[in-house]
Amino acid sequence: MNMASNGILLIFTVICINMGCNAKEAFIKVECKAENLGQYGQQSLLECVVQTSQAAANAEIRVVTWSKDDGTLLVFHDGDTTSRPGYSFAEPSWNDKNMNVSLLIANTAVEHEGVYKCTVVTDSGDGSNVTNLKVTAKYNKPTIRSDPEKLHPNTAGTLICNSNGGYPQGEIRWIVGDDTDWTKSAEMEAKPTDSGLISLSSKLTLLEKSTFHKYTCVVFNASGGKEEEVEFEFGILNSSIQDQDRQSEKSVGMPTKIAAPAVVIGSLIVGLLLALLIHKKRSQLARRFSTTPLMSGNHMVPTSIVEEGDHLSLEDGNLRIV
Ligand SMILES: *[C@@H]1O[C@H](CO)[C@@H](O)[C@H](O)[C@H]1NC(C)=O
Ligand SMILES: *[C@@H]1O[C@H](CO)[C@@H](O)[C@H](O)[C@H]1NC(C)=O
Repeated sequence: MNMASNGILLIFTVICINMGCNAKEAFIKVECKAENLGQYGQQSLLECVVQTSQAAANAEIRVVTWSKDDGTLLVFHDGDTTSRPGYSFAEPSWNDKNMNVSLLIANTAVEHEGVYKCTVVTDSGDGSNVTNLKVTAKYNKPTIRSDPEKLHPNTAGTLICNSNGGYPQGEIRWIVGDDTDWTKSAEMEAKPTDSGLISLSSKLTLLEKSTFHKYTCVVFNASGGKEEEVEFEFGILNSSIQDQDRQSEKSVGMPTKIAAPAVVIGSLIVGLLLALLIHKKRSQLARRFSTTPLMSGNHMVPTSIVEEGDHLSLEDGNLRIV
């Protein structure tokens, strides 16, 4: 709407208030939800419906205009709807008999926040109203890094916690140990990114005598709701402890590495001794029974030398596998 028509509307409204309105004016009213909530990256609904009095029950809509401070977003006029990309009537197949003139925003961004105006002209009168859109985005799980990178307990340093992707501005708080709030020892910075989402960063200074073991960074949203948290624990992120773990892994690993060859060598020795013993016994037998073929003697022979199904024979006093 341009300045001139705004002016005319203002004059008209003043006359309306002072002298009682045009009879048609009272027949329709645009009712809007005062505040709509939209989630970043999702669809948002700006809810407005045209209320008609009994006398205007069959009212037909001639014009609908949706606008925001930066201009017109959608216009229905002469039976046609034109709109900027990403804006449409919320009702899937809206027509001029449909009193639900709600606006749908396809992909909500931070810049969609603000006050929208909906103006309706019908054959039974006109009306307009405003509605507000609030946008929220959830913060990502924070990350903690330390400065210096290898931080040892009881030494001075800094823990830096970052979380981004949220809106509106939230807060990072630090919990030390299990329940001590140390946020007052930290310094937080909130920076808007190109998308309008906020990036939070908080630095917690550790003094030389800070003896706590566990530090938790907690992200709260703009209305004070807890969103995400991450813990930093000395002994888990600390590399010297990891080295210790690796060593103890080695000392567990060694016996198993030694065990396997020992078993093989051990059984070979046992096998050889058995073979030697049998050889001796067979030689004695051979001397007594001359050329008797060896039957069912398998169970006395180590399995590593003779397998199930092998036939053995004695030739010149020597045990042979056939
Ligand atoms: C208007 O239409 C939208 C989209 O179909 C729907 O979600 C909303 O509930 C409707 N509002 C009313 C008051 O009927
Ligand atoms: C903050 O978090 C609470 C709890 O999860 C949620 O109910 C609320 O809608 C959130 N508010 C914002 C502004 O994100």
